[in-house]
Amino acid sequence: MSQHIQQDSLPSYLDQQPAVKSRFERLKQREVVLEVRGLHKIYEGSKGKTLALKDVSFKTHRREFVCVIGPSGCGKSTLIRILAGLESYSSGQVLVDGKPVNGPGRDRGMVFQGYTLFPWRTVKSNVMFGLEMNNVSRSEAAREVDMWLELVGLEKFADAYPHELSGGMKQRVAIARALVNQPRILLMDEPFGALDAQTRARMQSHLIDIWRNIDITILFITHDLDEAIHLADRILVLKAHPGEVQELIEVPVPRPRSAEQFNSPEFIATKARLEALIHPPQSEAEQLVHPHMIRLVNVNDNVE
Ligand SMILES: Nc1ncnc2c1ncn2[C@@H]1O[C@H](COP(=O)(O)OP(=O)(O)O)[C@@H](O)[C@H]1O
Ligand SMILES: [Mg+2]
Repeated sequence: MSQHIQQDSLPSYLDQQPAVKSRFERLKQREVVLEVRGLHKIYEGSKGKTLALKDVSFKTHRREFVCVIGPSGCGKSTLIRILAGLESYSSGQVLVDGKPVNGPGRDRGMVFQGYTLFPWRTVKSNVMFGLEMNNVSRSEAAREVDMWLELVGLEKFADAYPHELSGGMKQRVAIARALVNQPRILLMDEPFGALDAQTRARMQSHLIDIWRNIDITILFITHDLDEAIHLADRILVLKAHPGEVQELIEVPVPRPRSAEQFNSPEFIATKARLEALIHPPQSEAEQLVHPHMIRLVNVNDNVE
């Protein structure tokens, strides 16, 4: 499909091909792994209170891939840290398999944007760390670690140290470390945000492969619209300040996903919808208050 699709000839992002529609029907019949109900988060700092999340509610089904997007500062990291049990919340409920979340647990694995491997430990020993914390025997742990390193394609680097790895490889170790405890949910906060475009694209396909091969539900935060559409079954769109759910969009792009789909009508229609939600057109009043461009130096010429 050509890139120059006219806006008025676009399908609606709500239109779904029969295969996509029936996939969503099946997905919604699966058990609910994560349920967030009326979540509020207020930070109390020296400069007063910040309402970071307001009445956030949603459900995620087993083996679903949900992306969360929203403008910077809208509370995405706050939300995922609450789900991981690393941050308290002011009111509401977070349930994993119907049980309230009170602190971190083996049922949730987390991958952060920054590289968080222990530099003094090898790849293998970094992945082993989670198991050591959970008192798994050494021989069982070694078997588990080998299996997960193979899954992320790093078995040859088991004895390397983090400084010997590229950014993409470090994040693959971080994914293996998060998965080794066989969590129900993998929580990822802009995990590919620091990678170059090519590595990022490779990591996206790699993550989709992992997700297809194991029983895992993924909640993935990004501010990259293309990344969200390419990866997600559904996209939770948050509003700026305070973070409030605007819409939970069912991505109409069929699976399996491929790079060619970035130009498909479904993809473009979904992106247009996300752009409208995240960067709403400015009102006339807002446009009027734009500062005039000031010419600091009278160079007496015009740049072509
Ligand atoms: N520890 C904190 N103390 C006070 N305010 C915070 C803290 N962490 C985040 N905030 C505020 O909460 C809001 C949401 O932040 P965050 O969750 O990091 O947003 P995002 O990840 O979407 O960029 C922001 O206004 C931020 O300044
Ligand atoms: Mg953040």
